[in-house]
Amino acid sequence: MSALSRRRFVAAATLSGLAPALPAWAVDTSTPGVTDSAVGDDIIRLDYNESPYGPCPTAIQAMSQGVRQSGHYFPEHEGRLIELFAEQNQVPSDHVAVFCGSRSPLQYALARHAGHRGVVTAAPTYDSVANGARAVGATVREVALDARHAHDVRGMLAADPAAGVLYLCNPNNPTGTLTPRTDIEHLVRNKPKGCLAIIDEAYIHFADVPSCLELAVEHEDVLVLRTFSKLYGMAGARLGLAIGKPALLRDLQRLNGYNFIPLAAAMGGIASLEQKDLVTERKNLNRRVLQATTESLRKAGYQCTEAQANCFMVALGRPAKPVIEALAQRGIRVGRVFGAWPQWMRVSVGTQAQMQAFMGAFLEVMKR
Ligand SMILES: Cc1ncc(COP(=O)(O)O)c(C=O)c1O
Repeated sequence: MSALSRRRFVAAATLSGLAPALPAWAVDTSTPGVTDSAVGDDIIRLDYNESPYGPCPTAIQAMSQGVRQSGHYFPEHEGRLIELFAEQNQVPSDHVAVFCGSRSPLQYALARHAGHRGVVTAAPTYDSVANGARAVGATVREVALDARHAHDVRGMLAADPAAGVLYLCNPNNPTGTLTPRTDIEHLVRNKPKGCLAIIDEAYIHFADVPSCLELAVEHEDVLVLRTFSKLYGMAGARLGLAIGKPALLRDLQRLNGYNFIPLAAAMGGIASLEQKDLVTERKNLNRRVLQATTESLRKAGYQCTEAQANCFMVALGRPAKPVIEALAQRGIRVGRVFGAWPQWMRVSVGTQAQMQAFMGAFLEVMKR
């Protein structure tokens, strides 16, 4: 057996031992060469950390009903969504606000708090933050992740003692890695006066650590962001939450023009929150596919980040851009190049079949 076919064999063998019985909502595309049933094409989308499973069936049903009723304004559904989230997460409901995706409150917060001061982020991290900060004229300081691939919170605090925003993503996009709770608390306790700490929990559902929601309730100037775009599979529906002090949220809503979210998104969000076991099942399934994929990659000699999210990074030992392009030519889209780590590639976790197809194509591309 050649080295390549041995590596492929290891990859396929590891991945095929996965997920004995998929839950009903996880209607999987069964074989490599996979057709994406939601979109109707053969492209394997591992580039935006979306859920390969889409909205759960009850959310689809609720959203269809929401579309039918969309001739009217229905603000009460937004209220119901807030109440439900608040109750499930034991936070006061006046500390929760709903937006069209979590990117909106993030951008409003940058406009309000970073514009006249500065913003400090990690490198690499979710790059919309630096882009959004620059768009409002803020100075951006990026601090390298530490050796554990956690945020270097002390370095971040030192980078700009007058910062208006400190942004921390936990688990981090693109690495999928965690920052210890004690470090996050250190950042919150020691941030400059009046500085807003944004803790982005877009991927928290996939991780084995508790949320930082209570920090947004306990402290002034802490904003936690949540989204339905990742584990809940509702990226196209645009639904996000911001959690913080009521005055902080009112300010963001004012910048949002007191706009509200589409009825279908609100109804889909409620149905998703009401779906018992959805988070646990999707989290476990993601974990199994993630572990099998990174195990295969490591066996083939590639370092991967210790991710607890639906994405991870793999070290290529060569520039990532041509590898990403070669995979795209094979119908497999993976994440973009992150400037701080130009030889690493971000990969989103898809279905078992999609990851099998990815492994085959990846090993082939890397051989060249
Ligand atoms: C860390 C992080 N925050 C926020 C977002 C934006 O999500 P949304 O779809 O809720 O706007 C993303 C999307 O990829 C993300 O990775």
